[in-house]
Amino acid sequence: MLILGIESSCDETAVSVVSVVNDKINVLSNVILSQIEIHKKYGGVVPEVAAREHVLNILPVFDESLKLACVELEKIDLIAVTCGPGLVSSLMVGVETAKSISYVCNIPLISVNHIEGHIYSAFIDDFPVFPCVILTVSGGHTILVLMKNHSDYEILGETRDDAAGEAFDKVAKLMDVGYPGGPIISRLAKEASDEKIVSILPRPMIDSANFDFSFSGLKTAFLYELKKDKGWQDKKAEYAREFEQAVVDVLISKALKAVAKYNVKTVVLTGGVSANKKLRSDFEKIVEEKFKNEVKFICPDFKYTTDNATMIAVAGYFNYKNGKIGQWNNLKAESNIEL
Ligand code: KG4
Ligand code: ZN
Repeated sequence: MLILGIESSCDETAVSVVSVVNDKINVLSNVILSQIEIHKKYGGVVPEVAAREHVLNILPVFDESLKLACVELEKIDLIAVTCGPGLVSSLMVGVETAKSISYVCNIPLISVNHIEGHIYSAFIDDFPVFPCVILTVSGGHTILVLMKNHSDYEILGETRDDAAGEAFDKVAKLMDVGYPGGPIISRLAKEASDEKIVSILPRPMIDSANFDFSFSGLKTAFLYELKKDKGWQDKKAEYAREFEQAVVDVLISKALKAVAKYNVKTVVLTGGVSANKKLRSDFEKIVEEKFKNEVKFICPDFKYTTDNATMIAVAGYFNYKNGKIGQWNNLKAESNIEL
């Protein structure tokens, strides 16, 4: 089966082609056109600008993806498109493009929830054993899920305010080190020296009985530390390291509590923040130490951590296989939809 995936929920225009045989995924193309360079100067994504860029880019990206995959459009069996959550004007570009192709070429169309797309990035090169615990951490979401089967999710916890990626971006803004903050903070953290001391930041909600998160207070605590410290400009790397470690500690602690409580054999980390090497390596190490070979840790390849259309195609495939299918005439972009 050949699936064409389309993703345009934020500032990446992405189109992928995957072929699936017996649930084994073969990625034929994974084209991503990022608008980061354009939004950098504004310090964040400007929705109007993002939508205009998607309009300009969607057909060239679509064309390139088919060419790279060496697949003709007529051969595609299913189109999967992100319908939300995200920026509605950006989502509309992908959704309307997918609907037009589906209508003109008579190809079945399926809508995919963006968070579900991130979850399915774990199924591209691997296969989590159900039930499993999935932590998805991105610029827009921090969500801990018990996945019992395909399309069967129990949300264990979510962020009550800022997403983890958003916190990285805001902290980078406070230190004026650039956008997007995640990769910059992570790079800075590696340069930190042990000689320069900074205060320990809080680990919000780390001991709470539930599985919710909160990162807004951490960002405020960070701001107060900078205000107290006249010499913070010379300790950006040390502050970056302490902030990164605070986020990493909270994320891992909550996920592992869920692993123990639900006695699962697989724990999965996905989303843009899972590109963070410290988070990936600490997570893997702690799972190994705590559960030995009893629990498997899965994190997708770096190219599938941030927004891409391969994860959308894969989520679309499993949903289609499980009987879900949309009609092009009642599919629409929605900024807020639940998993
Ligand atoms: O999944 P994604 O591409 O988009 C959303 O669905 O939001 O995630 C983007 C987020 C941004 O907040 C970015 O700062 C963060 O992922 N990010 C990272 C790293 N790379 C990207 N955060 C921490 N460390 C990284 N290396
Ligand atoms: Zn995303």
